[in-house]
Amino acid sequence: MSLQTISYMGCIELRFFTVFDIVKNKADQLGHTEEEMFANLKKERINKKEILAYQESGIIPTDEKVLNGILSYLEMSKVELELTLGRIPTGFEDVFLNNTKEIAKILEDRKGDKEGFQNVIPEIQPYYSSDLGKLYNGDCLELFKQVPDESVDTVFADPPFNLDKEYDEGVTDKNTFSGYLDWYYNWIDECIRVLKPGGALFIYNIPKWNTYLSEYLNGRMNFRNWITVDMKFGLPIQNRLYPANYSLLYYVKGDKPKTFNVQRVPLQTCPHCGREIKDYGGYKNKMNPKGVTLSDVWSDIYPVRHSSSKNRKFNELSVKLLDRVISMSTNEGDVVLDPFGGSGTTFAVSELLGRKWIGFELGNCEIIKDRVENKDRDKKLFEKVYEEKNKLFPDKVKELRKKNGLWTDDDFRSDKENEEKEKANKLKEKNFDQISLSLK
Ligand SMILES: C[S@@+](CC[C@H](N)C(=O)[O-])C[C@H]1O[C@@H](n2cnc3c(N)ncnc32)[C@H](O)[C@@H]1O
Repeated sequence: MSLQTISYMGCIELRFFTVFDIVKNKADQLGHTEEEMFANLKKERINKKEILAYQESGIIPTDEKVLNGILSYLEMSKVELELTLGRIPTGFEDVFLNNTKEIAKILEDRKGDKEGFQNVIPEIQPYYSSDLGKLYNGDCLELFKQVPDESVDTVFADPPFNLDKEYDEGVTDKNTFSGYLDWYYNWIDECIRVLKPGGALFIYNIPKWNTYLSEYLNGRMNFRNWITVDMKFGLPIQNRLYPANYSLLYYVKGDKPKTFNVQRVPLQTCPHCGREIKDYGGYKNKMNPKGVTLSDVWSDIYPVRHSSSKNRKFNELSVKLLDRVISMSTNEGDVVLDPFGGSGTTFAVSELLGRKWIGFELGNCEIIKDRVENKDRDKKLFEKVYEEKNKLFPDKVKELRKKNGLWTDDDFRSDKENEEKEKANKLKEKNFDQISLSLK
């Protein structure tokens, strides 16, 4: 995809994050091809390899020869280059701070021009509706316009990672560095707008992109967690560490979350003997029988790989991950929005948890519709998740431990407590059955 430069009143409406993208934009303005651009840079004594080094990195060249060549090609000073990258030029922080009034005036004078460009919002019909949710087919930036301010409790987003992956026809996953981040920040602004005060935003991506997003979000929302989802993706990369984690950013709008339901997970045990993997010392009797509090490192989420549990060929998150996010940040009846529906995991889980939902998807929506209408497979996956959730030891592990003479939480309960626990479990199972039955 070529660099998205939208000319507006003679100015460029795109945030730049790399020196390469600024150079490429200059070439586009001159009507030059990439080859012509490289030829012109050569005249400035910069070879192709030297400029390509700045394609995927936000740094300003430290090599004087390269920097001066680029500045000459751009007809810019270093200060102008830094400003174009959206930064306060190094060494001028005090000048900037002492002149904020004048800078604010220049910006505010432009506000009126921008407002003139607001469009009338067209009403778009949903592709599919259930009792709890609505699915829209189209570009999320267009569809967001229909969602009223402060109307959503949680946004979960698993966007394309800009890795040139295969999606449906017409859905590209390759943009320039700046084009991708600029697009990202635009839809993040929309997420923030539609969230209720205290609403939660979760963004799933590779760490590289989430470092930029985190910086952007820190000035707009309240940071809760950088969740590391331990999962290998792709192949080992030469001269780099093997990438083995996704990042799930968790932010809230305003001071504190409107809802935070603690999630509990089992103690990690050996699948063969049932022994705990980590030593918890002498505090066994003080452990909560509902499990340990979930941390910000999730190593129990597995990729959806088996074709029997997959709804489409690519990029599908697990029901367990979405159950965790939605259960943690919402209550029954709350509204969950996912701008990148994919196979519809967010909507399937929202249905099973009794949450309302709004979904967008640019590609094939039929898969999502089928999934929401035929819940049997998701119900089975969901039951599996609940076999382990909120238990110090899942039943099978507990049996194994008892067989091997290892302690379980039952050892630290009086007979009366055990009876009450039995009763509570039965009631919980009955309630869960009722939730499942009430679903179509
Ligand atoms: C990583 S996948 C989401 C997978 C999803 N979380 C799941 O579990 O199935 C990203 C999805 O976003 C869609 N997409 C890409 N660009 C979009 C846009 N501008 N608006 C809406 N959807 C878009 C792609 O078609 C793809 O299905």
